Amino acid sequence: MAEIPVPTSLSAWKALEAHLPHVAARHLSELFREDPERAERMSLDAAGVYLDYSKNRITSETLSLLLRLAEESKLRARIDAMFSGEKLNSTENRSVLHVALRSPASARISVDGKDVVADVHAVLERMGALSDEIRSGKRTGATGQRIRQIVNIGIGGSDLGPAMAYQALRHYSDRELSVHFVSNIDATDLAETLLRVQPETTLFVVCSKTFTTQETLANARSAREWLVSKLGEAAVKQHFVAVSTNEKEVSAFGIDTADMFGFWDWVGGRYSLTSAIGLSLMLAIGRKRYAEMLGGFHEMDEHFRTAEFSKNLPVLLGLIGLWYVNFLGAESYAVLPYDQYLARFPAYLQQLDMESNGKGVDLAGRRVSYQTGPIVWGEPGTNGQHAFYQLIHQGTKLIPVDTIGFIRSLNPLGRHHDLLMSNLFAQTEALAFGKTAEQVAKEGTKPELVPHRVFLGNRPSNTLLLDELTPAALGRLVALYEHKVFVQGALWQINSFDQWGVELGKALATRVASELESKAEPELSHDGSTNALIRRYRARR
Ligand code: F6P
Repeated sequence: MAEIPVPTSLSAWKALEAHLPHVAARHLSELFREDPERAERMSLDAAGVYLDYSKNRITSETLSLLLRLAEESKLRARIDAMFSGEKLNSTENRSVLHVALRSPASARISVDGKDVVADVHAVLERMGALSDEIRSGKRTGATGQRIRQIVNIGIGGSDLGPAMAYQALRHYSDRELSVHFVSNIDATDLAETLLRVQPETTLFVVCSKTFTTQETLANARSAREWLVSKLGEAAVKQHFVAVSTNEKEVSAFGIDTADMFGFWDWVGGRYSLTSAIGLSLMLAIGRKRYAEMLGGFHEMDEHFRTAEFSKNLPVLLGLIGLWYVNFLGAESYAVLPYDQYLARFPAYLQQLDMESNGKGVDLAGRRVSYQTGPIVWGEPGTNGQHAFYQLIHQGTKLIPVDTIGFIRSLNPLGRHHDLLMSNLFAQTEALAFGKTAEQVAKEGTKPELVPHRVFLGNRPSNTLLLDELTPAALGRLVALYEHKVFVQGALWQINSFDQWGVELGKALATRVASELESKAEPELSHDGSTNALIRRYRARR
């Protein structure tokens, strides 16, 4: 492997440090006043997404230094390496090829000398066939009744992607078919879902890349028992399908491999929405709409691969985000979709971003001395406005935000959409420009209240505007964030594609479970706190 640079030692990084005081002292109001063209210059209309990044605490100089940092970090070579199937996931010796999942059938991308695109399309075709059969009623449950409910059992990337996208594309779904998502090991999740479905009309889609995940297997086993208790053992075959890379474990569970939809180790869990993990979504919206979504993903993939960095949406979002994390000290960023259908989008992004870039060691195995992935959070506007925006506007923390809105509503109703969008635009305006003491006083505010009613402004935001929430638009949006995370991981010189940080807790939980369940009083050798918690639980349950 080529030598891994330490980002902070790159000349562009040092230049950014030197440049920081010039920006830190500036207010967005001044930057806009000085440059009437700013909004025009700092916006980009590409791949079906309009990005306004002018309300960021950056100048043209900041941007050119950030772009220089991208060059010095050899970002272009890393993008090319991903698209050509190189094993970028170095700790697991795997390619990172979610982009192959949405490549047209004519494309050729190889891993270890073998083309993967044909395999991708073969699985897509099988998914499409199942989806047609379920949606048309050709394939029924064991009693001959039509399938009306889908229960997706999976967790992490095997849940968040399809759950987010099902909600996002609800408008396009067959309303006679409902999709439910069960992920938590807490039996409440499954129990409450089973109350809402009937065994005769339910198809369980068990999604697990590894097919060894504790939560998913426990939920799948309990769902299986429930089904068998109602319809008998023979019904399992018609009511369970699996999505996995692990054929052996799928068969061992009792699911016919003819009903298994595979994917590959070069698809990371949090990047797997466009693999067969999207099956429940395809069942809901049908193969045509699903293909449109893949088209949107591909459009953004191609934009990312080919656009020059200064006009490249994921690169710009990634660089601006890095500027806040590493130079202006932001610990988090908020994603605020002004669309109810995108209610789960922030939760989806949490895994995408935080599991990818929540790393403290670089590609060379050295502990990093600089900040990496930020905390991601958010809720749909306008609900968030009545909850946590207070802190963003007047609190002591710097929280850059991404607002996302659509020009046309899928549910046009009276003034609702204009009101919704007026809130989005007004919030970014208020965040950036605030309200001075002078303005507040002029309104006749009592002097003692003036400081409370001042908005300092200078709070940064990106605004992403798309025309309408179509399947393709969702695809573009998700791919945009996937690649933004890629850009930041590349600049931080970390591996965005492993997740060793989830292992320790899993391993300890196995040991604790045996101590909770043991008949005899177990000999505990944890720390004092953990021992006491286990004893109290055993004594009082
Ligand atoms: O949380 C760790 C993780 O490995 C995620 O990366 C993954 O999406 C999730 O667990 C589920 O894994 P699987 O699909 O193998 O059940």
